[in-house]
Amino acid sequence: MTDLTTFIAGLPKAELHVHIEGSFEPELMYALAQRNRIAFRYASVDELRAAYRFGNLQDFLDLYYQGMGVLRTEQDFYDLAMAYLRRAAGQAVRHAEIFFDPQGHTDRGVAFKTVIDGLWHALEDARRELGLSASLILCFLRHLDEESALKTLEEALPWRDRFIGVGLDSSEKGHPPAKFQRVFAKARSLGLHAVAHAGEEGPPEYVWEALDLLKVERIDHGNRALEDAGLTARLAAERMPLTVCPLSNLKLCVVHDMKDHPLRRMLQAGLMATLNSDDPAYFGGYVNENYIAVQQALGLSRDEVVTLAGNGFRAAFLDDAAKQRHLAALERYCATAV
Ligand code: ADE
Ligand code: ZN
Repeated sequence: MTDLTTFIAGLPKAELHVHIEGSFEPELMYALAQRNRIAFRYASVDELRAAYRFGNLQDFLDLYYQGMGVLRTEQDFYDLAMAYLRRAAGQAVRHAEIFFDPQGHTDRGVAFKTVIDGLWHALEDARRELGLSASLILCFLRHLDEESALKTLEEALPWRDRFIGVGLDSSEKGHPPAKFQRVFAKARSLGLHAVAHAGEEGPPEYVWEALDLLKVERIDHGNRALEDAGLTARLAAERMPLTVCPLSNLKLCVVHDMKDHPLRRMLQAGLMATLNSDDPAYFGGYVNENYIAVQQALGLSRDEVVTLAGNGFRAAFLDDAAKQRHLAALERYCATAV
């Protein structure tokens, strides 16, 4: 009998919640800072890694925006994405839907074209070289105003065929989804998918707003939805996917002990949970480490782990034929990994 850790390592998976800028490993950050001749605040990679202690989401975001400041050229964005895609392929990720934060780059003078060209060429090469499909979701930074989000969407339209949807991330508290109704309506009218971070630190009301005002197709995180029984029932009835990120929740003090992680309660409530890494370079693990951490802490069964992996494909923005192909491969894996 394969032990569960080995089983998880080879399990075919989809990743639906990963910020490409959050996959920026300190070693690569250092190398790019040197390549771009940018002075760095930390004397060594170890010193930088030692700074990765966060009391809340904002603590992390302050470092996250500082880190992405060394990304300047198309090659930088290519290298960043390729590094993530190699790690993901090595963890049996067969499909990834990757967030990127254009305003984190355009606001410091990097052209949108530079960002999208670098990311896109990495996705193309990964499909050929690594056998992994991946697509991009453009996120709006919610601490900025809707005008800036609308301008960003406008700026991105020449590359409309290179991203499949829009998302909403950054500082949640005090920045409700309602603030972004017009830009999401515009994006949906262009045929883009819609997702939003909600209920990570923010209240259940933000999850309601993401559903009713932004009309999202997935909720990113969604932990705090469980505080509202009516909302939980609705999410279950609609089979609304939640992209859950256990190590992120632990590192950002959304949960204080993995044993208290709401994933088991989500499954018991019939919610369509998926497992993801969020910002793997900052939170101590890629997707496999997230599966393993939560499996061990909550004592998840092999069947529950398989359900979570299957949910990743079911909740992906893939056509039905592609979903069926992935789910069939998952079944074959389970049949052979006895
Ligand atoms: N941007 C990157 N990671 C994030 C997170 N966990 N929540 C909100 N915004 C983010
Ligand atoms: Zn996130």
